Amino acid sequence: MTQQTLVAGIRASGKLHIGHYLGLIKQLLDTQADPNNRCFYFIADLHGITTPFESKELSQNTLDIAATYLSLGIDPNKTTFFLQNHVLEHATLAWIFNCITPLGELYRMTQFKDKVEQQTSGGGKKVSMAGKIGIQISQNKEVANAGLLTYPCLMAADILLYKPSAVPVGEDQVQHVELARLIAKKFNGKFGKIFPEPQTYLRKPLRIMSLQDPTKKMSKTGDEALLLDDTREEIQRKLKKAVTASDASGKASAGVDNLFLLMNSFSPEKTKKYFADKQTEGLLQYSELKQTLADDIYNFFAEFREKKKELLNKPDYLAEILGDGASRARKVAGQTLLEVKQKIGLL
Ligand code: TRP
Repeated sequence: MTQQTLVAGIRASGKLHIGHYLGLIKQLLDTQADPNNRCFYFIADLHGITTPFESKELSQNTLDIAATYLSLGIDPNKTTFFLQNHVLEHATLAWIFNCITPLGELYRMTQFKDKVEQQTSGGGKKVSMAGKIGIQISQNKEVANAGLLTYPCLMAADILLYKPSAVPVGEDQVQHVELARLIAKKFNGKFGKIFPEPQTYLRKPLRIMSLQDPTKKMSKTGDEALLLDDTREEIQRKLKKAVTASDASGKASAGVDNLFLLMNSFSPEKTKKYFADKQTEGLLQYSELKQTLADDIYNFFAEFREKKKELLNKPDYLAEILGDGASRARKVAGQTLLEVKQKIGLL
């Protein structure tokens, strides 16, 4: 089989929960396991600063995310794993893409509109589509920085520097990958062919639902999400509160389905069978199921927690892994940028 190159950026902010693990993270681990794949996976720290952040916490958060992915199984011997900001070619190519991307394409992006709306809600006016350019951010001109708008050009640069055939992403990033393809096509048409038009690598994601409102996707607020860093007690407490009691809204059965979905991913076969049989017999005790599931989830991530603690205690080693990844990435990215400059006529 021929080799294929895959590129993925990992969001730099926020705590990871098991919905993330069973979604994108597992996808990255599975793709890495295939020896035909050449993977470039990086922490998208330059994207991370397009939304509000605390500079005091930024580097610690980035290291935490890097340690998390390495401890979950990203193997720096198989995958080129690095921080985006260490490979300067990303920002340079992003600038070039800024200069060939029509504003209209950027204003149309759903994520941009959502993020501006999040930042304005309660404050200034909402974004209204107006005028030729298609948008007007009135009153509070501070809300949307230019980086938030040109985010997809940076993402296109992240991707195209490595000339991949596919990009593993979650559903919410499909539109950005489409734009990267459009940018590739445009560049190729204008200056000469360099870039492939990569596809999204999107497997049907396991949709893990909120423990508190199982009609919504798990997100990282309050007690509705099980975080990868949660202690045994926290997992037990959150699962205990998970919705299963019958009510009229249909949430109860969605809640039970969700627990079985988790069990399917984290419990051994014999546990799955035991509870499936109980359910068929009508003898299922939710408290017993929740208790068992809490233990299984806790144990599933036991090795991860150990490794992560160890890695965070060895910042020099972590820095070495990231430095090595960046220098490998730079070799490929530098070559592509050189080709780009030659095509454009930049000396
Ligand atoms: N925008 C992506 C997200 O929010 C992260 C990302 C940045 C990315 N650059 C990328 C994903 C390049 C894939 C390829 O999840």
